[in-house]
Amino acid sequence: MDALERLTRRASVRRYRPDPIPEADIDRMLAAAQQAPTDASGQLYTILRVRDRGLRERLAHLAGDQRHVVEAAEFFVLLADLYRIERLLAHRGSSPGRFPRMGLHFALVDAALAGAHLAVAAEQMGYGICWIGGVLNRADEVARLLDLPPGVLPVSGLTVGVPDENPAPRPRLPRALVVHTDRYRRYGADDLEAAYRAMAPISKTGDWLKLLAHYFASGGAMEARDPIYGRAKARQGFADDLDASAAEALFVRDVDAGSLAEAVTDLLKKGWRGVLFGQGAFGESEVWIERETEAHRGEGQHPGDALAEAVKAAYPNEG
Ligand SMILES: Cc1cc2nc3c(=O)[nH]c(=O)nc-3n(C[C@H](O)[C@H](O)[C@H](O)COP(=O)(O)O)c2cc1C
Repeated sequence: MDALERLTRRASVRRYRPDPIPEADIDRMLAAAQQAPTDASGQLYTILRVRDRGLRERLAHLAGDQRHVVEAAEFFVLLADLYRIERLLAHRGSSPGRFPRMGLHFALVDAALAGAHLAVAAEQMGYGICWIGGVLNRADEVARLLDLPPGVLPVSGLTVGVPDENPAPRPRLPRALVVHTDRYRRYGADDLEAAYRAMAPISKTGDWLKLLAHYFASGGAMEARDPIYGRAKARQGFADDLDASAAEALFVRDVDAGSLAEAVTDLLKKGWRGVLFGQGAFGESEVWIERETEAHRGEGQHPGDALAEAVKAAYPNEG
């Protein structure tokens, strides 16, 4: 089978033999991963190789008790990483910019591309792989377990090992739905029916909707992950309007928020009647929070910092 044929016949592997992968092979996979394209040569990602057995068990559990996380010879966690670029800039006296949206975007792309290179290289060498988005069930806990500094966020896990199964390739959507020409083509009922027909073999019942709904429908797994991810994202410094230290200061005072709006909503729920934002005489942000017999003021460069200061003043003994 040539390389292209292998690419089009590939399938994720979830059963592995216990055989280890020789270090020379790991080295080749990682070299391929590092050669992935990267915007502005920033290399805004880190590949974390998880070798500690106990850590693997914890991660497998957080990912929804997925045994292949423990049984595969190797488990990597792909990380979006702005921390290293900040360190590099600061090391030579340049002050890092604040671009949480662009940072998140390009760091996710870099991490995904490096992971895809690693995965494809491993498959070309005859190993099996499986991406593990399950680690995003508890992005907060994964960040804590892996000791991720601000600026670093888990993107996905990736198992690599010697396959103990040979799964058939899974179906994909009709090409016309995923490849458009010149203008985005919206979908008619016929397209959507064709999609369900094409994807039916993915499950024994032949009902793709069940699987789709499990993840993406109202009340599904993605909705459950979303607020946890939002909070982890804020505490890792990727929120638009809360920097990492403000999000952490709020978190340790039981305001577990992914954004300024969520923080305000939570404070109002906790009985704070007014949350007043303003601007001080020197252009600094100012926040007052008040209830019945008390009011606290905070100030900072941005509204998020000011709110965190006001909350610190309200709960001085925590954190
Ligand atoms: C970002 C991402 C996250 C995934 N997470 C999981 C996971 O947590 N567990 C798992 O068994 N498979 C996971 N998969 C594998 C998908 O289920 C699989 O790629 C998809 O069903 C298509 O099947 P195939 O890879 O065999 O073609 C993930 C894949 C991707 C790209």
